[in-house]
Amino acid sequence: MSAKIIDGKAISIAIQAQIKKDVLTMTSQGHRPPGLAVILVGTDFASQKYVASKVKACEDVGFKSISHNLDESVKEAELLALIDELNEDASIDGILVQMPIPQHINAHTVLEHIKVDKDVDGFHPFNIGRLAQRRPLLESCTPKGIMTLLHSTGETIRGKDAVVVGASNHVGRPMSLELLLAGCTVTTTHRFTQDLEKHVRNADIVVVAAGKSDLVKGDWIKKGAIVIDVGINRDINNKIVGDVEFAKAAENASWITPVPGGVGPMTVASLMQNTLIAAKQLHLGITN
Ligand code: GUN
Repeated sequence: MSAKIIDGKAISIAIQAQIKKDVLTMTSQGHRPPGLAVILVGTDFASQKYVASKVKACEDVGFKSISHNLDESVKEAELLALIDELNEDASIDGILVQMPIPQHINAHTVLEHIKVDKDVDGFHPFNIGRLAQRRPLLESCTPKGIMTLLHSTGETIRGKDAVVVGASNHVGRPMSLELLLAGCTVTTTHRFTQDLEKHVRNADIVVVAAGKSDLVKGDWIKKGAIVIDVGINRDINNKIVGDVEFAKAAENASWITPVPGGVGPMTVASLMQNTLIAAKQLHLGITN
């Protein structure tokens, strides 16, 4: 292996330590702490774990957090009424509805119901639009975390050929916008892409968010490329693996993220950053 590891776990810990200091400064100046409301609908095991890690991060950095666990059968109107209440709650800076939500509820309606200045997931069309128009405000958490990881390498990002494998609303599309904003020449591949290998072989930066283990073969990776693996899959031995053939990719890449311990912790760190931004800049008018 020649690639250096991008240690998302360590970087996320450092970010959260800094946020904790910021919260202490805020509260020592007489301000309230930032507040995050987390809504979980149903009992999906993975979603419960993600929500628990977000609530724990709030405790660690000194944010107020409130959790609402709603029954799988909750009506869309009840969920929207809860969001209305949280939109008006002056102690809450961020509202997060853990995805996916049950089919009988329209996810677009729900996400668009969250006030744009409390959209700490950065999923609202307003915040995606701000990013598309080069004026990011609250940025989608996973792509924001990946940009932090890319910058942590110290490599020049501007001017690079980047490929994003996967075009989901929550990761692939905002990721492509982030890389475009950073000055990359961006290719987005998706399920209808005819020759994935060709696009990956050309890329200096490869971000894979497809949810398919070993989709990207290690020998496709260009010498010296930076590889970011967003995938979280189980292999036949029940081991957690990403979307990239890690061992072979690491022979070619200059930098690579591990799974687990790469992108995953950064999503939570970005959520804490967004909640702090919402509190300080958007709600309390703190400029330092
Ligand atoms: N489901 C998977 N990832 C996420 C995320 O970052 N935010 C929310 N709200 N739901 C998710």
